[in-house]
Amino acid sequence: MKFLTANQIRESFLRYFEERGHTRVKSASIIPETDPTLLFVNAGMVPFKNVFLGLEEKPYKRAVSCQKVFRVSGKHNDLDNVGYTPRHHTFFEMLGNFSFGDYFKREAIQFAWEYLTEVLEIPEEKLLVSVFEEDDEAFEIWNKVIGLPEEKIHRLGVEDNFWSMGETGPCGPCSEIYYDRGEAFGNPELGSPEDIRYLEVWNLVFMQYNRDKDGRLTPLPKPNIDTGMGLERIASVLQGVNSNYETDLFMPLIEFAQSVSGKSYDPEDPGSENTVAMRVIADHLRAITFLISDGVFPSNEGRGYVLRRILRRALRYGMELGIERPFLFEGVDVVVDIMKEPYPELIGNRSFIKNLVKSEEEKFIKTLRKGLEILYDIIQKAKKEGRNHITGKEAFLLYDTYGFPVDLLEDIARDNGFGVDIAEYYKLLEEQKERARASWKSQAKEIKPVYLELKNKLPENVFVGYERLEVDDAQILSVLKEDREVDTLHEGETGEIVLDVTPFYPEKGGQVGDRGIIEGDGFLFDVVDTQTPVEGIIVHRGKVIHGTVKKGETVSAKVDKDTRLDIMRHHTATHLLHAALRNLLGDHVKQAGSLVHPDYLRFDFTHFESLTDEDIKRVEELVNEEIMKNEPVICKEMPYDEAIKSGAIAIFDEKYGDTVRVISAGISTELCGGTHVSRTGDIGYFKIISETAVASGTRRIEAVAGRKAVERGLREHFLIENVKRALTAKEDEIIDKIETLKLKLKEAQREIENIKKKSVVDRITDILTVEEKEGIKIAYGSVEGLQPNDLRDLADVARSKLGRSVVMIASVDKEKNKVNFIVAVSKDLTDRIKAGEIVKKVAPALGGKGGGRPDMAQGGGTEPSKLKEAFNIFRKEI
Ligand code: ALA
Repeated sequence: MKFLTANQIRESFLRYFEERGHTRVKSASIIPETDPTLLFVNAGMVPFKNVFLGLEEKPYKRAVSCQKVFRVSGKHNDLDNVGYTPRHHTFFEMLGNFSFGDYFKREAIQFAWEYLTEVLEIPEEKLLVSVFEEDDEAFEIWNKVIGLPEEKIHRLGVEDNFWSMGETGPCGPCSEIYYDRGEAFGNPELGSPEDIRYLEVWNLVFMQYNRDKDGRLTPLPKPNIDTGMGLERIASVLQGVNSNYETDLFMPLIEFAQSVSGKSYDPEDPGSENTVAMRVIADHLRAITFLISDGVFPSNEGRGYVLRRILRRALRYGMELGIERPFLFEGVDVVVDIMKEPYPELIGNRSFIKNLVKSEEEKFIKTLRKGLEILYDIIQKAKKEGRNHITGKEAFLLYDTYGFPVDLLEDIARDNGFGVDIAEYYKLLEEQKERARASWKSQAKEIKPVYLELKNKLPENVFVGYERLEVDDAQILSVLKEDREVDTLHEGETGEIVLDVTPFYPEKGGQVGDRGIIEGDGFLFDVVDTQTPVEGIIVHRGKVIHGTVKKGETVSAKVDKDTRLDIMRHHTATHLLHAALRNLLGDHVKQAGSLVHPDYLRFDFTHFESLTDEDIKRVEELVNEEIMKNEPVICKEMPYDEAIKSGAIAIFDEKYGDTVRVISAGISTELCGGTHVSRTGDIGYFKIISETAVASGTRRIEAVAGRKAVERGLREHFLIENVKRALTAKEDEIIDKIETLKLKLKEAQREIENIKKKSVVDRITDILTVEEKEGIKIAYGSVEGLQPNDLRDLADVARSKLGRSVVMIASVDKEKNKVNFIVAVSKDLTDRIKAGEIVKKVAPALGGKGGGRPDMAQGGGTEPSKLKEAFNIFRKEI
């Protein structure tokens, strides 16, 4: 048997099949961009699903790939096994060869056997196989063609040897190849739960059926081959180690976990806590790195939530190893170094991934700390109440408010000799989920009955606004007023008009609805918005300017051309912006919402950091270059699959029909139903106005195009001209000038303060009210806007001028509605009267607190209006 590194195995596999007529296909993203039934790509065949189903054709009939896969949800979910077995992972690489209606069982088996025994030189006697119990054909091939003895061919049932992608989709019987690790691992039954002797390395699926929603199997147009060999497992065989974690794909990660924690990994004791924890960390680090690199960001739902959970899980295992700080982000470097050869995009994404991981780690650690504090309070309280358990409600509160994981809670509770009412916890969790579902449902927009009625009785409204902005002979099919059908709409009334044919674009896909006019025999209707409340019905909303609108009349409908042009410019500019961001920042940039308006455009996208000035400059330049190239904007209608195949960008979460419009404009190709200019040059000019954050991992750009950009340019120009005039400065002197002015202003303010203070100091005994009691002068009063330091100086002066005295001076800040005050006691009185104590008595009256030494103390509050009361308290205290 050869010793090969993982990189060598990967390459040798791809090359072997390439030499046998297979096209080498690059791994697709872990996010299945075109398959709504899957959260993640969970097998090498997923990118070819539509080819198997006969929906899509490729220019080749044989393919080979090494696909990134992720198994944490749905039908194939290995998460709970990770760390506890030597061979399960969340993320792994699957080597596979595929035949699309070309070769079938016999060749697939021959290729696999030849590759294992002749290329990798695995001794034949170390291999055995299984086939689906009813598959005599596969049995015969193994037995007669390959020459494998009968006792090495096991017949297994549906559970083991019938493979399906998910609840629906391609499936078929399969044949698995196992590596025998030898008698040292016992004599178990093949595939039984206790079997650690036979390692399943390769699965050959004879893809013959499609399973539909009701579980029915229908034969595929042609029989296909799909195979899958886990790279990590075959590497463990060729590198002669007992677990995937000891191969060169993982060992540097295990070493990393050892060095961060100072604990050791023991391959001889795979069940030990430390070993399990290090395996989990190693596995999850790979998953985290690849998920983020493919554009998944932590969030509270969907893929982002899976990422967040995996990351937090890894952190918790880190804590079990005694690591109390963010550390995973450093492990990202290790993953990148191991994997950068086959996945060079990791190099460019490295710092981005690290930043994201680090900030997520910091956030979670903070959450945990807060949660821990609360948990200890809960435990104290329970002890006082004589309880020895934490209620479900308390556990739920911790989870709900602080994201504190319940399994961790149970661990800590256990350490304190406490139990947790887990049943109640799950009940509350379920109730919350139910509430969330209900609120989600009630948020879904309900279609008003009147529109459903219209949809049922009217022909589908025809939209002709891609080519024309005016229609002369449209017919009014319906008139609506306050959600009811009416026959007429009179002058001054607002309502809705439905036409059989219209050039008005109804709001859709982020593009706002058209404005314009509808004109008929003696009436004029001003359309302020166009909507499509239900598929097939387009309503024009607005007001009758004069005359009477009547159902059934023939009218002309005119879209406001200028506004529509503004909209089209902004729409095509949005596409160019999207493409420019992807080109410059990377493919993790995905549209997360957009608004195309006549006045501006807004584009939300996934990206972790804010854009630098340099980024913005480059994006703006690239978009404007595309505009200057003045390329034609081409719109083609084609089947969805074909569009995706051609590389067009589809927006996640957007629903598409079978036939889609593909808009190509310069560097951009996107699926889109909106309206666009005919050449990029029509956009005129593109200008970014702002770049901000919308949510963690989501940024927003607002920009203007065409005449709006020109207007903006002019406005800014005149603004600068006015500034120059006001400052009497040249353009390049503006900033210096402002800085100088700011400095001068500050100096002047300081000067004024000094003068004010001096004048107050001079007059201080006049400002204060002075009373005398038993030979002690009691002085009090207030000034405006002095800082505590100045107040202290002032009190000092007053005290020495007055001699044997107690002084209180307050300073009111009217703007901030605040008051500071000082109490000073002359030295000869401090054994009887203590300034600190007086302040403590007076401050509450001003809504604040304070304290200090016997001779000088200060306080403050937020209720300056209560000063009079405060002075009274002061007087009485002495
Ligand atoms: N698609 C098959 C699997 O994932 C090869 O096992």
